[in-house]
Amino acid sequence: MGRIDGRVAFVTGAGAGIGRAAALALAREGARVMLTDIDAEGGRATAAMIAAAGGEGQFRGQDVTEEDRWAELMTRTLTLFGRLDILVNNAGIAIGLPITEMSLDQWNRQLAINLTGVFLGMKHAIPAMRTQKPEGSYRGGSIINISSVAGLVGSAGLAGYCATKGGVRLFSKAVAMECAAAGDGIRVNSVHPGIIDTAIWQKMDAGGIVTAIVGEGSNAPPADAIAAIGTPLGFAGLPQDIADGIVFLASDESRYMTGSELVIDGGWTAH
Ligand SMILES: NC(=O)c1ccc[n+]([C@@H]2O[C@H](COP(=O)([O-])OP(=O)(O)OC[C@H]3O[C@@H](n4cnc5c(N)ncnc54)[C@H](O)[C@@H]3O)[C@@H](O)[C@H]2O)c1
Repeated sequence: MGRIDGRVAFVTGAGAGIGRAAALALAREGARVMLTDIDAEGGRATAAMIAAAGGEGQFRGQDVTEEDRWAELMTRTLTLFGRLDILVNNAGIAIGLPITEMSLDQWNRQLAINLTGVFLGMKHAIPAMRTQKPEGSYRGGSIINISSVAGLVGSAGLAGYCATKGGVRLFSKAVAMECAAAGDGIRVNSVHPGIIDTAIWQKMDAGGIVTAIVGEGSNAPPADAIAAIGTPLGFAGLPQDIADGIVFLASDESRYMTGSELVIDGGWTAH
């Protein structure tokens, strides 16, 4: 028996990193998974991994900033799987630049993916989830929005990213209150990863931010170099560390949690 047998999950940004680990973990615990990404190759690879492990997953291409595509994919999910129980708004980018060097286009793009994408996901998932709460049941669905430690504390060179992730944090709480007031049983929580070893760090380092923080001469991969400096546990986390938290929030083990922040950061924000 899996912890979320019979449920249907929708995971964005599932072609790599945390999204891939989350899709695999949810499938392993019994969910059928609709996984989406702008990167079709990565997304198909994740779907193949789920199938190889004996799970059920379907990949569809998606840019989370496009509202029409969200509407199409919600309909497709209900047609293919018959229901929707779990939404993981995971797709995100990080642009590491001082605010004075950030163009308006870069600001808008980061905002569109990291915050507007989360808005569109919740806007289109909630009506689908609301149709299926059994009478007398507390369970109407679980929405898990991936924020960051950068949504809890400020970080030089990541001000734009912090703005989007801080937005995800409070947006999640407000929608949690709307759902609670509606009595629809839908729980909404945010997850706050610390330094996790994924490709996001290589992409971000194109702006030189990691070098600016750790100094010249470090040969360590970016996530390891940053984690060694700022993480009390002394090492970078793995995507699986975050996926474990996501499965917990998706399952009934967290049935009394809504509007909460699940911080998984090796102690980053504890000091
Ligand atoms: N890795 C970390 O240290 C860390 C820390 C805190 C928060 N996060 C957050 O975790 C989430 C996942 O990040 P990751 O580290 O796995 O990064 P990643 O770059 O490995 O994966 C992100 C995925 O999102 C996809 N994506 C990007 N733009 C998209 C769009 N417009 N539409 C759909 N998909 C899109 C990418 O193709 C990629 O597959 C992000 O929201 C990120 O901000 C990561």
